[in-house]
Order: sequence, then C-alpha cells, then structure tokens
Amino acid sequence: MTPERHQKITDLFLEVCDLSRAEIAEKLDASCSNDSEMRQHVEALLKMDQLPGFEGDVDQDSISPNSYEDSESCSDGEDEKPTIAPRRPIIPNYELIELIGQGGVSQVWRARENSTQQEIALKVHNLTAFSSEDGLTRFEREIKIAASLNHPHITTIYDSGHYGDIYFYTLQLIRGGRLDHYVTEHALPDEAILRLFSIVCDAVEHAHSQSIIHRDLKPSNILVTTQGHPYVLDFGLAKAMEGAMKEASLTMEGDILGTLEFMAPEQAMGEQDKIGKTTDTYSLGLILYRLLTGQSPIDTSGTRYTLLKRMQNGDIVSPEQYRDDLDPSISAIVMKALERKPEDRYLSAGDMNADLRTVIRNLRFS
Ligand SMILES: Nc1ncnc2c1ncn2[C@@H]1O[C@H](COP(=O)(O)OP(=O)(O)O)[C@@H](O)[C@H]1O
Ligand SMILES: [Mg+2]
Repeated sequence: MTPERHQKITDLFLEVCDLSRAEIAEKLDASCSNDSEMRQHVEALLKMDQLPGFEGDVDQDSISPNSYEDSESCSDGEDEKPTIAPRRPIIPNYELIELIGQGGVSQVWRARENSTQQEIALKVHNLTAFSSEDGLTRFEREIKIAASLNHPHITTIYDSGHYGDIYFYTLQLIRGGRLDHYVTEHALPDEAILRLFSIVCDAVEHAHSQSIIHRDLKPSNILVTTQGHPYVLDFGLAKAMEGAMKEASLTMEGDILGTLEFMAPEQAMGEQDKIGKTTDTYSLGLILYRLLTGQSPIDTSGTRYTLLKRMQNGDIVSPEQYRDDLDPSISAIVMKALERKPEDRYLSAGDMNADLRTVIRNLRFS
C-alpha cells in the first residue's frame, strides 16, 4: 500500500469514526462507491475500534467454549480489572488463579506453574477477536520482541505455547499497580517522580538500542511493584525497525490501535513513514506530564476527530499552567518531548533520560 493511499484510508476512518452507524454507511457509500477495497479497510478499522477493551467488555460469546471452564469468582476494584466473571482457560501445567488484566484481545492471569509452584503472569490471546491468522502473527511478534529484550525493568518472558486454539505466554508477575496510581497513592514529590521515570526511560532506551519501538507506552503498560520498581510491559504493538524481526510494512490496524490519549500525532494520524523512536519519546512526554500535573496537555473533550485536529495543530498547554511551582527545567523536558515535529523531540528515550538525570542532579544540589 502506498503512503498516500494509507493516508486516504486513515483520513476517511477518522472522519467517520464518531458518526452513527447509519451516517457511517451513508458516508462510505458516497466515498467508496468505486473502491470496495478502501471500504473494506475502513470497515476493518471501525470494527477494530469497537473491539472490547477499546470501548467495553469482552464479548464472552466470542471466546471459544471448548477449552474454558466457568469461573466462579472474579476480581473487582481497579479500572483495568474486569467486572464480569471471566471464563478460565484450561492450560496444562498451569493453574490459573485470578484474572488481573483484560484488553481487547487478551487476558492476563495470575497463575501458578505446577512443577515449580512459582506464581507467574500468563497472557492468553483471544484469537477470535481478529481473523486468526492476523491475530496469531501479531501475538507471535509480541512474544518474539518481548523475548529478545533483556532489561531489569522489562518483564521477562518465561514460556510460550498453545493448547488447542488458546495461545499464551508466561512472564514475570509484577505485584503492584499502574505507574500513575503509584505516583498518586504515594503523593510522590517531583524529584521522586523523575527518578522513577528515569528508570522507565532506561528500559525504553534498551528497546530503542535494539531498534525496537514500543508504540503503546501509557500508564497501564507500566507497572510499579509495591517496593517502587517500575516495569515496562505489553509489546503487543511494538515494531522492530531493523534486523530479523523487521517487517516490510506496518499494518493499518497496527497504527490506529492503542490509546489516542497517549499517542504521538503522527501515530494517531497513521503517518507510517514518520513513526520511530520519537513516537515513543512523545508518549513518554505525555505520561510524565500526567504524572506531574494529573492533567493532559491537550484538551481531550469532544469527538475524536476534534482531538486529532488539536493534536495535529500541536495545541499543547505548558505543564506550568497547571503547576506554577513546577521547576522550569522539568517543564522544558516535557515540552521538548511533546514537540509537534518528531525531529524536534528527544531522538530516543536515552536522550530524554540524559536531560532527566541532569535535572535530578541539579534539584538535589539546589
Ligand atoms: N507481568 C504482569 N504482572 C502483573 N500484571 C500484569 C502483567 N502483565 C500484564 N498485567 C496486567 O494486565 C493488563 C493487560 O496486560 P497487557 O500486556 O498490557 O495486555 P493488552 O495487550 O491487552 O493491553 C496490564 O495493564 C496489567 O494490569
Ligand atoms: Mg496493555
């Protein structure tokens, strides 16, 4: 697919995504009368957009009934945790204890490995949410990329496999919660936030140094243990820019998936050729902004279309607007990460970290 066509499809998707079903049909009839392939692409994106996890809960009927047992209990509480009783997949050698996370196409369980009796996290992929081939390729890529990384603050992969049509992998269990919740619950002062965030940047830099971009950095993909150690996880949208895992092209769906709120403008607009390490440094800027101010730098009210227009225009509010006590050197780091043009931002997480470390040192001495 040419970049121009890719852009055309993305534009049309963005134009219709907030409309009613009838209005969407009308608009697609008008715009794709001679181009059924384009219509298919847009409809695929719309379908993806309505996947559970992006909008609501998983449709339990879409889960294959054969290899699941009914679950009597389910966790409550945090927003990321499901509120409906999930079906528990049966996977030999593992005892699934509690559902701890649920996304559009996956469930994450706290589980026990029978032979070692160690508790681990087990991520199950719901292949039926995508066409199975696409979903499987995606999941295999996630496992390969995550397994290729070796960093103390990136969750370690232990095992992967499938039982019937249930695909899974197991990884280091993180006992704790989301980064933003940790910061709020502990009322962390700025210097402590920067120190924690510097470790996150170091983990992302490890991926960058291997030419891997995460593409889905957001607070729910960064967990902090009760001892205060952060971990970057979920390489489900990650992309290898070079080497054996490099792909010829990004898929349309891969660009639009993910959370708009923590996405760089070029990613939200589906501008494939501009996606790189700086896409991650922008997301890091958004996360740091949120941790320091509790706010988003962009007005997120209104439709997604208006939000995208604001992103595209770079309508960013300085963090000092929310925090007049914020040290200007911290604000400068955040604003550099959030530059509209990728080339004006930090070129990698390591570059951002270098500035963070300087500021941390200066704050300590002042
Ligand atoms: N290793 C882990 N330890 C503890 N909780 C985890 C772990 N991996 C994932 N989770 C929880 O499950 C949620 C979803 O996992 P994630 O890998 O982000 O899946 P998705 O691709 O569906 O977003 C996370 O936000 C987190 O709350
Ligand atoms: Mg996730």
